[in-house]
Amino acid sequence: MTRVALAFSGGLDTTVCVPILEEEYGYDEVVGVTVDVGQPESEFEEAEETAEALGLEHYVVDAKAEFAELCFTGVKANATYQGYPLGTALARPVIAEAILEVAEEQNCDAIAHGCTGKGNDQLRFETVWRGSDLEVIAPVRELGLTREWEIEYAAEKDLPVEAGDGGVWSIDTNIWSRAVEGGELENPDYVPPEDIYEWTAEPEGETTIEVAFEAGVPVAVDGEEMAPVELIQYLNEYAGQYGVGRTDVMEDRMLGLKVRENYEHPAATVLLTAHGALEDLVLTKGERSSKKSIEQEWSEKAYQGLVFAPVVDALEAFIDETQTAVTGTATVKVSGGSCRVVARDSEYAVYSEEMASFNTEDVAGIAQEDATGVAKYHGLQERLANEIHAGVEKPELAADGGADATDSDDTVAETADDYLHEN
Ligand code: ARG
Repeated sequence: MTRVALAFSGGLDTTVCVPILEEEYGYDEVVGVTVDVGQPESEFEEAEETAEALGLEHYVVDAKAEFAELCFTGVKANATYQGYPLGTALARPVIAEAILEVAEEQNCDAIAHGCTGKGNDQLRFETVWRGSDLEVIAPVRELGLTREWEIEYAAEKDLPVEAGDGGVWSIDTNIWSRAVEGGELENPDYVPPEDIYEWTAEPEGETTIEVAFEAGVPVAVDGEEMAPVELIQYLNEYAGQYGVGRTDVMEDRMLGLKVRENYEHPAATVLLTAHGALEDLVLTKGERSSKKSIEQEWSEKAYQGLVFAPVVDALEAFIDETQTAVTGTATVKVSGGSCRVVARDSEYAVYSEEMASFNTEDVAGIAQEDATGVAKYHGLQERLANEIHAGVEKPELAADGGADATDSDDTVAETADDYLHEN
């Protein structure tokens, strides 16, 4: 008896994978696993109904708490990739782990997903699974399936897929973000219609929101303490009413493809803005600038689905070291779809009003005139260099601009489309 666990959503791709795993790959039994990272209720209903209609052994695993914890690690890292707070990317390793656990418990020999060969998710899932002894299967990629073929196959096999399954857009939702792509959005010059948005209202109105942090972790909103999942869900709804947290990204995927993606992430925007603002108050200049490059590294790895990498542990050790002082509050104003800090407060502020004020005299035994020596030295090397350079003649550049840099090459592609079709 051979068994294969399948990452199952009940959508077209994963539904056609069920008979294919039996018929093409020869497995006796398919086990569907749906992982809850905060998708809307309707997605679970669809998964349950489809599983039932298929007679599929089906498990639903709630991983929202683990996922929220990773989102908050993302907050400590001020993590974004090309402007997007990494919702899909952070969810994938959590989902992959949860499915692997079920696969092992259920004595499966293999583990499968319905991702295409074009996206990031195949890489994010498989890097987790390939660390196990299970065989990894990617039917859509391996058999080169297209949407049209799947629709025809589903009709032939009388599979329980709804007509126009999934609607016009491809949507990926979890508590951290809602990603929308496909259809007309594939044209980067197409302005998204309001109806792609579900979490964010057309930006209008304004309010202020105060977030409290303890060691970098959000713990309360407007004075009300909340558990991580609840806090994120609350802010998605509350800040979403003010149209906060929409991004329209030309995203460079891991395989090199550039793809247009639209995101909604009200809670992530509020929490990242507030967290960054509190850090600005409590971290030293050196910590802030060193942390920037650490954050960049963390975000890249997270985008690649490699949050379990040893280097990520090392980066997090640095991040956590800086977070001990990130306790206090930051208040953001959400207005007209924007989110900006308007106040911050912490007992760990590396800030002295007395020192910074224009109205006070000497502090810490330092008088204004003590800066005179510093002012004399400041830029000394640059002033000296300019003086020396003024006396040196610059070498002439060759007039023809170097070896045959002519414009006679008419095979040069003018657009990406020309390139595709010429090569
Ligand atoms: N491009 C995003 C990522 O790789 C999201 C992919 C899923 N998006 C979707 N609308 N199905 O992280």
